[in-house]
Amino acid sequence: MDLFDVIKRRYSVRAYRPDPVEEEKLQEILEAGRLAPTAANRQPFRIIVVRTAGRTEALARIYGRDWFTDAPLVLCLCGVEEEGWVRGKDDKSYIDVDAAIVMDHLVLAATALGLGTCWIAAFDPDAAREVLSLPDGVAPLLFTPLGYPADQPRPKQRKDLDDLVKWNRW
Ligand SMILES: Cc1cc2nc3c(=O)[nH]c(=O)nc-3n(C[C@H](O)[C@H](O)[C@H](O)COP(=O)(O)O)c2cc1C
Repeated sequence: MDLFDVIKRRYSVRAYRPDPVEEEKLQEILEAGRLAPTAANRQPFRIIVVRTAGRTEALARIYGRDWFTDAPLVLCLCGVEEEGWVRGKDDKSYIDVDAAIVMDHLVLAATALGLGTCWIAAFDPDAAREVLSLPDGVAPLLFTPLGYPADQPRPKQRKDLDDLVKWNRW
């Protein structure tokens, strides 16, 4: 599938079939995440692959929507704080930006392979730390279910390009 087709085809999947994700597809998706660029190539992230079978109750504490645990897999993108690049001039950490790029690689690779995902930030971080046994200095940043969609894409609601792009100055 052409990159632009993948970008157009991706949508937030909020219903999943229970069918398993093939191991080769999972490996391809994780490899796409591994190849993502990160600031100063620090790669300050880890991807936790969670098999949802038998863990529904614990995962529901992290994010309570049924569809979150209907998918066979959930991915958690974690930031390793001490590994991240920080801009010297103002101490701004770029871990969140790095994580977003990795997540987009995972999500687009999954889409290209016919799988569904949904970026999730509205989870309970304390529950995530506990359920996934995250050590100090490791932050849960993003989640997504990973599985075959059981819903249909909706029309995209987006601002016009003219409202989003400015030329030469604000
Ligand atoms: C950083 C980020 C966080 C998001 N968090 C959630 C979330 O917690 N729950 C949810 O259902 N969707 C979440 N979304 C999905 C957005 O609502 C969705 O991408 C947006 O409405 C556009 O729809 P589309 O993805 O179908 O194109 C998130 C998306 C992004 C990029």
